[in-house]
Amino acid sequence: MAEIHNSSVTMLDLARETETLWGEINEAVQRVLRSGSFILSREVDAFEEEVAAYLGVRHAVGLNSGTDALVIALRTLGIGAGDEVITTAFSFFATAEAISILGAHPVFVDVEEDTFNIDHHRIEAAINERTRAVLPVHLFGHPAAMAAITAVAQKHDLLIIEDCAQAIGATYTGDGTDLEVSYPNSIRERLIGKRVGSLGDVAAFSLYPTKNLGAYGDGGLLTTDSDDIAKMARQLRNHGESERYHHQMLGYNSRLDAIQAAILRVKLPYLEGWNRLRREKAARYKTLLDGLEATLPRDVLGHVYHQYTIRVPSEIRDALRGTLDEANISTQVYYPCTLDTLTPNGKSVGSLEVSWKLTTEVLSLPISPYLETDEQDRVAETLHRAIEATRMHN
Ligand SMILES: Cc1ncc(COP(=O)(O)O)c(C=O)c1O
Repeated sequence: MAEIHNSSVTMLDLARETETLWGEINEAVQRVLRSGSFILSREVDAFEEEVAAYLGVRHAVGLNSGTDALVIALRTLGIGAGDEVITTAFSFFATAEAISILGAHPVFVDVEEDTFNIDHHRIEAAINERTRAVLPVHLFGHPAAMAAITAVAQKHDLLIIEDCAQAIGATYTGDGTDLEVSYPNSIRERLIGKRVGSLGDVAAFSLYPTKNLGAYGDGGLLTTDSDDIAKMARQLRNHGESERYHHQMLGYNSRLDAIQAAILRVKLPYLEGWNRLRREKAARYKTLLDGLEATLPRDVLGHVYHQYTIRVPSEIRDALRGTLDEANISTQVYYPCTLDTLTPNGKSVGSLEVSWKLTTEVLSLPISPYLETDEQDRVAETLHRAIEATRMHN
């Protein structure tokens, strides 16, 4: 019993995954080693075809990282120096970094309290003559309010880049915060039931190992329905080459390698099941955490729970983390800073009050397809006890 209690509950134990997939992964890696072909290659072509079919897009382009996917996505749309891109203040740094690094300006707007995603009501006020695009992030696996965002983008002739780094497999189900807003029904009908990454003009995915579909190294993916965007992304990932040694533009070395593609091909067929397990564990947290002095994440049908992030009173958040840590339970704070404080050439429009508040209240709990029932029970019990204890001390 004591042994069980001292074992650690980590945010995600990838060794459990490799253990389960050991035979298949071994075979796939050996296939690549025997082929003698390690960069791009038929493995990458095959992965791109399979993942494009899964996501419901015409093109998927394998890249080195999600960050590169964002930079290359922006480049394919011709976004650069002086342009403005409206995005969320509450995300991982790369979201804003990709915009800034091209000399464009991220324009931050606040997020929704219960989804952590860009507040679509605030986008219109941030639009001016330099605005070229909106870049929503499907944070923690929760699809952003894409119908409302699309309506604003269409009205002002803006492009949409989806940051899907945390949301592969998530579906726009139309039951989110844009449900009550009025916009053309045709938009909702076009988007409902489609996976993120197929909703805007171009999308960027991270295939970092901890993501819902992760490589065993860095990896990224750009998706689009546009032949021109896909063609340019393929050029940009390979030094701007149109054909060998013919460089038509300044590009990058951002090629997905064959071993990662082969591993991703093994994992892709499991993704639906893994996301289902994540949803089941989120539903279980909802029951287990009932009555806790905390706000639980808003559920929508298409959410894939890359993170399970609750909000607790800011004055006790760090003490709670400490108690969980003493009980060998890992937690994380995604994110302790808003992007406006990190990005040199960004600006914000309107108050970022919700985002700022979230940095002091959010607490991400362990969630993964491999999280055991008794581990989840322990997380919940420890949290209940820790909140009671903290309250008694205050
Ligand atoms: C929202 C978001 N955007 C972009 C990225 C960048 O992806 P990568 O780490 O693969 O470069 C991440 C990575 O965590 C992310 O969470």
